[in-house]
This record gives sequence, C-alpha cells and structure tokens, in this order.
Amino acid sequence: MNSKIVYLDNNATTPVAPEVKEIILETLDIYGNASSMHGPGRLANAAVSHSRKAVASLIGAEPEEIIFTGGGSESNNTVLNLVFSDIFENTGRDRIITTKIEHPSIYETVQTLETKGVKVTLIGVDGKGNLKMDELEEAMGDDVAIVSIMMANNEIGTILDIGEAARIAHSCGALFHTDAVQAVGKIPVDVKALDIDFLSLSGHKLYAQKGIGALFIKKGIPFCPLIHGGHQEAGRRAGTYNNTGIIALGRAAKLAEDQMEQEIPREQALRDDLKERLLATVPDITINGDQEAILPGTLNVSFPGAEGESILLYLDLEGIAVSTGSACATGSLEASYVLLELGLGPELAHSSIRFSLGAYNTQEDVDYVLEKLPPIIKKIREMSTL
Ligand SMILES: Cc1ncc(COP(=O)(O)O)c(C=O)c1O
Repeated sequence: MNSKIVYLDNNATTPVAPEVKEIILETLDIYGNASSMHGPGRLANAAVSHSRKAVASLIGAEPEEIIFTGGGSESNNTVLNLVFSDIFENTGRDRIITTKIEHPSIYETVQTLETKGVKVTLIGVDGKGNLKMDELEEAMGDDVAIVSIMMANNEIGTILDIGEAARIAHSCGALFHTDAVQAVGKIPVDVKALDIDFLSLSGHKLYAQKGIGALFIKKGIPFCPLIHGGHQEAGRRAGTYNNTGIIALGRAAKLAEDQMEQEIPREQALRDDLKERLLATVPDITINGDQEAILPGTLNVSFPGAEGESILLYLDLEGIAVSTGSACATGSLEASYVLLELGLGPELAHSSIRFSLGAYNTQEDVDYVLEKLPPIIKKIREMSTL
C-alpha cells in the first residue's frame, strides 16, 4: 500500500480541520447536559448557542431557525416525513415533488413514503443536471405538500436554480426544502434571498466530524419533529445535545464563512487545471455536469473504454482516492442513476470518475494525478481491447 495519500473524494466526506480538531479536544470536558440549569449545564448551553449562531450566520438565518440533527440524512428525512404530520391533515396536500438526481436520503425516502400512500412526482434534469423548470411548473398543483430540490448535486457538482424552484413551489402554496449538504460551506448560501422554508446541511462535508448536521426551519413555518421524547431544540428534535459535534460544526461553519472568498477561486483553479490538462493528455474523455454553475472543487469525467472501478483501484494503488459514478449494490455493479439521468449511456456512466477537491488539496496533488492517471487509462484501455 502506498503511504502517500492524495485525497480527492471531498464530496464523500472531508477530513476534520485542524482548527476543528483543536476545539473538539479543548471542549471534550464540556460534559454538562445543555438542558440542565446548573453550572456545567449552562456552560454546555452557552457553547451550543455559540455554535448555533455560527451555523445560522453561514446561511443567512437567525439562530433560532437552526436545529441540530444527526446529519444530512436525518435532516432530509425529518422534512419529508412532515407529509404525514397534522400540518397537512385535511388540506388535501399529500404529494411530494423532488428530482430524479437527489441523494438516496431523499430519493429512497420518497420511495418508502410512496409505499405508505404518499404521492410522489420526480422532476427530470437536462444533460448538464439543471432542473427542468417547465416540468416542475407543470407538475405543481394544490395537492403538493412539499417540494424538495437539492442545491448542488453530489456526483456532478451542478448547482441547481433553487431560487426559481422555491418561487414555483410557493406560488402553489407548497413548502420548499433544499438538501444543501453539498453546497453549504462551499458556495455562498442565503436562505432569505432564496426564500427557502427548510434546508439540510451536514458537518462532515465541511470539515467537522460525521454524525452531526443541522436543519434550517424558517421562522413561522409549521413543523413537527421526527424524533420525539424531549423538549430540546424548542420541541423540534428530541435527544440530549451532542456537545462535541455541535461545537465542532459551529467552528467549521465559522471557518467556512471566513475562508470561502479565498477558497472558492483556489479550488476552482486547481479543478480547472486538472480538467484542462486531462483533456489535453487523455484522448476521448468527456466532462459531465454544468461547467458554469458547478461547485468549485468537483470534476466528473467519463473515460470511455475504461471501467470506473478499475480506474479507482489503480489510482488507489498510487495513493489517490477518488470515487466512481457506479455504486456496488447487491453484488452487481449498477451505473449511477444520476449520470444515466443526464443521458449518458451505461458504458459512459460506468467509465466515470468523480474528483472532488477540498481545502487541503494543492497543486502538487493535481500534478501527481496528472502523472499517474494517463498511463493508467492507457493500460486499462489496452487490456479491455485485448
Ligand atoms: C447531497 C447529499 N445529501 C445528503 C447526504 C447525507 O448526509 P449525511 O452523510 O450527513 O447523512 C449526502 C452525503 O453524501 C449528500 O451528498
């Protein structure tokens, strides 16, 4: 195993930032239950409040509009399950609209809800992953309870037009949610300007640890908890506060807010350099996703004639961590539903690799990939023609 690691899978998860690690270690002694009235409890409560402010500030929200959750999946499930709550009882609203390229925590959740009687409409995207706005408009009706559209796609990095989608949803009286797990911390997000009702975010995509996330709930919007059994989060999410996770998320949110202006052009430059030099050195490759409205560090490439899994494994031997457009499910390799939805054939979808750069990637990392990858593709292509 190569001891060098060039980690280019930051859309899957990010390493914990040293500044975040430091505050986790410093605050491990904040053991009080943030709901307790005594000194240790008040100390924990103050730390939780401080983090809440930092998370709110990153997305242009008020602190009381943020609840902490166990991650992006929980935040997403919480919002989608509102369809069963008394908010929609006797309203005739029993339909959810979402897209065909959502993360499984939306996509599979709506499939489950469908088996329980919820109506679901899936909206398509164009060849670059942009939402088909006319399809959304046509699908709307006064039976729609929730419209949930992701802010940025995890596989291809395309940034969707959430402001317009929210406007369309609201024009029919539906609530609007966005899964912004891939966007928050990477690009500026302003819930007020976008007129969003609910937004999901996740700590481990922005250099905090796994298992902590948040949900933005716009002030005045009706809400019911998914997790019952305690008065935490003003009755919106039961469970003793995860002090270290919350403190870490707050620190990571502040770091992201402070560094975003410099970090966006830095990651874009590295990603563009990788893209341009790959296009120049590896024949017949294609780039997936919108190349204008795209997350700064994401690059999804199809290498026809080479299987994504083989590329991934050869790169891994060189210490380079990337991901494929395919998911290994029940022993069979299924092509990515996101790439198929863009109109890629199964062969192209199977030959795709996602590079996702993050805060700790350098020019040296990009140069290393450009040294190792072209001969790997050549070798795999030669083997497959044999
Ligand atoms: C777009 C998107 N939504 C939701 C999630 C799930 O977040 P978590 O891992 O915090 O549950 C992910 C994680 O991969 C994601 O990329």
